[in-house]
Amino acid sequence: MAPAAAPEVIVCENASDLAKRAAREFSRAAQESVASRGRFRVALAGGSTPRAAYALLANAPLRQQVPWQQTEVFWGDERVVPPNDPASNYRMAHEILLAHVPIPPDHIHRFRTELSPPDAIARQYEDELRASFQCTRPRFDLILLGMGEDGHTASLFPHSAALHEERKLAVALYAAHLQAYRVTLTLPVLNEARLVIFLASGRTKAEMLRHVLRGERQPERWPAQAIQPHEGRLVWLVDRDAAATLHPDDAGS
Ligand code: 6PG
Repeated sequence: MAPAAAPEVIVCENASDLAKRAAREFSRAAQESVASRGRFRVALAGGSTPRAAYALLANAPLRQQVPWQQTEVFWGDERVVPPNDPASNYRMAHEILLAHVPIPPDHIHRFRTELSPPDAIARQYEDELRASFQCTRPRFDLILLGMGEDGHTASLFPHSAALHEERKLAVALYAAHLQAYRVTLTLPVLNEARLVIFLASGRTKAEMLRHVLRGERQPERWPAQAIQPHEGRLVWLVDRDAAATLHPDDAGS
């Protein structure tokens, strides 16, 4: 297998410019995917960073540019809370974006967090992925990811057994440090994507961003390092604050 492509690091002036670039990249990926394959399947990131980009996609001009009728939305991970819980990644994206665009309701594939136990959520999502992609190894057109200050991404936390899952498409796990259950896509799915875009903003991410991009390879310790699309592009959209500790040569266009 060819070595993974090197990450493309794009430094935006500030969080607002990062959101604009992220929304533009989303729209571009959607248009290219539909033109090439007739559909666009994307996994959304949770957390706070993507909120501003989702808001831009819910409004003109980007709202009109995205082929929503051919778009299918999934999530990279979810908190095991009800879908209307303030902590829900589904609720966040639905409130800010999905409720405001003409995406068919059956194209919105949330984790069924009402199922119990948590493993049943992961199993059902796996079934939904296989049914939608009609294959055993889903290849997303775009996966958006964030990065925590501890280097986690999606709900793949440092030293988590989930980092070693090679068969399942999604797993449930208990995040002891959060005292909460999570469900997450696994690396086989995340690294199958055509395009992965990380969004990292703010000075609090700077130290970890340097470790992940320029530190020695320790994906157990810094799970964001484990994201290396086999045959896809890896793009880091960061703002100047997050890139504060990167060497100027580290940044691309
Ligand atoms: C979540 C996300 C998580 C997030 C990072 C960054 O469910 O919270 O999947 O991986 O992307 O923790 O979060 P912020 O964007 O809030 O910094």
